[in-house]
Amino acid sequence: MQLRSILLLGSISAIFVVASAIGQSPERTPNIEEITQWARSGHANIHSESFAHWNDAGEIPPVCSTCHSGAGFRSLYGFDGSTPGLPQSPIPVGGVVDCDTCHHPGLPSVTEIRLPSGTQHPVVGAEAACMTCHQGRASTATIERAVAESSEDEVNPELSFINPHYAVAAASLLGGSGALGYQYPGKDYQQRFFHARPVSTCVGCHEPHNLTVAEETCATCHESGDSRAIRISRQSFDGSGNLEQGIFADIVANRERLFALLAEYAREIAGTAMVYDGNRHPYFFADHNGDGLPDQREGAPVPYASWTPRLLKAAYNWKFVGSDAGIHVHNPHYALQLLFDSAEDISNALGRDLTGMAR
Ligand code: HEC
Ligand code: HEC
Ligand code: HEC
Ligand code: HEC
Ligand code: HEC
Repeated sequence: MQLRSILLLGSISAIFVVASAIGQSPERTPNIEEITQWARSGHANIHSESFAHWNDAGEIPPVCSTCHSGAGFRSLYGFDGSTPGLPQSPIPVGGVVDCDTCHHPGLPSVTEIRLPSGTQHPVVGAEAACMTCHQGRASTATIERAVAESSEDEVNPELSFINPHYAVAAASLLGGSGALGYQYPGKDYQQRFFHARPVSTCVGCHEPHNLTVAEETCATCHESGDSRAIRISRQSFDGSGNLEQGIFADIVANRERLFALLAEYAREIAGTAMVYDGNRHPYFFADHNGDGLPDQREGAPVPYASWTPRLLKAAYNWKFVGSDAGIHVHNPHYALQLLFDSAEDISNALGRDLTGMAR
């Protein structure tokens, strides 16, 4: 009896997986190996916040649907017969990143994608799909528009935190070629990180169905397959002088230092202490009494509202670097540059030189 119900449950989820995998093309003969791999990935996880977020509403707004459902993605490029661009109407919930997101016969015709900066970027093959969805939702231009004419250290109650969005791997990989971090005027930035063949594109490293990266992929060129242990740079960026640690450690250390500077600037110059809660939108909260906890109003934390242009730019970069768990591989030097420039800018306002950090 127990065995039978387990089998029954097993077959129900198998039917579900196959049905949602096939997406728009029921005539496709599903390949069990790829389906099995895909079913283990986040792309197939219908229960994750990325897909379930709109369940109560029953439909996904067009502007969100292009990355949060296969159907919205196909509509963006007109694969469903519609005019290319945002879908005309909301997309029903229940979709995931299904097979035909990446296997639609129209995909090879996508040779350029539009970035949040407004620029078009050339793409080849499957990266057209990956880069459409993993590009984030903001850029240098978004921040510049928001802060427009205001003076750098003046609190502007009109400002609120601008979130780069999540899993912004393509945004970091493109670096200065996309300008999706906040890039300070007059500074040079690492462009797209082409790395080396065959690891110059998303699927050169990520198995496209289960999305994992095999350590052997790296070990042909690097001494270690552990991405966090790899280092080539002969310069210490975090002031530790340690050239044995992975470049990952330099990025983590500089990001922590930038946060300490942001907190000090918020308190001393913007005039209100700030706390961060990574589990709660909009992530930065006010802490007027300085007890390290968000102020509460009617049982909810009070969003930080003492943004100055300078603080907004640096906080965006701090969040940007943290929004890509693979940034130390996708474009480590772009990350280091964004962190350094932000830390330098905040230090200047605090009237100090930035020491022990390199670009
Ligand atoms: C239609 C939009 C879309 C496309 C196209 C897309 N992704 Fe994703 N990707 C997502 C979303 C949404 C998530 C988060 C899924 C979740 O939270 O369950 C995600 C998650 C991931 C993850 C995190 C690992 C995991 O299992 O959750 C990796 C790695 C990834 N994608 C890589 C890729 C690569 C490589 C490509 C191209 C071959 C690609 N993505 C194409 C939307 C997309
Ligand atoms: C350019 C593509 C893109 C667009 C447009 C987009 N998202 Fe996302 N979003 C993503 C990706 C990729 C992830 C997956 C992050 C991850 O792996 O956790 C994500 C994750 C999320 C999550 C889950 C965050 C978490 O903490 O797990 C929410 C909620 C979300 N998006 C809301 C929205 C809303 C609301 C909109 C429309 C206003 C939107 N997104 C538009 C790409 C996009
Ligand atoms: C995120 C994008 C993405 C999704 C989603 C995806 N695939 Fe793929 N698939 C690819 C890419 C890219 C390749 C080519 C891999 C390569 O060249 O090594 C591929 C290869 C394949 C192959 C092998 C073809 C060959 O020439 O070797 C099959 C079969 C396949 N996919 C089936 C599926 C099925 C079935 C699904 C749904 C369960 C699916 N794929 C979902 C990106 C994707
Ligand atoms: C040189 C190899 C390489 C390339 C190219 C590459 N990645 Fe990654 N990526 C990795 C590694 C390794 C990690 C895991 C880092 C870790 O967990 O320490 C990762 C992490 C990620 C994550 C975060 C996964 C998670 O668990 O949150 C996403 C999303 C992602 N990559 C998507 C992409 C996309 C999209 C592209 C193309 C624009 C891409 N990657 C290109 C190697 C690569
Ligand atoms: C074909 C050879 C090759 C393969 C395979 C390869 N890399 Fe690299 N990697 C390089 C080269 C060359 C550089 C230096 C590139 C540069 O700075 O322009 C580099 C740089 C890096 C860096 C930056 C190190 C630093 O100190 O600046 C990291 C991190 C990295 N690779 C991780 C990975 C990971 C993770 C993988 C496997 C998913 C991988 N690489 C696969 C050749 C390779």
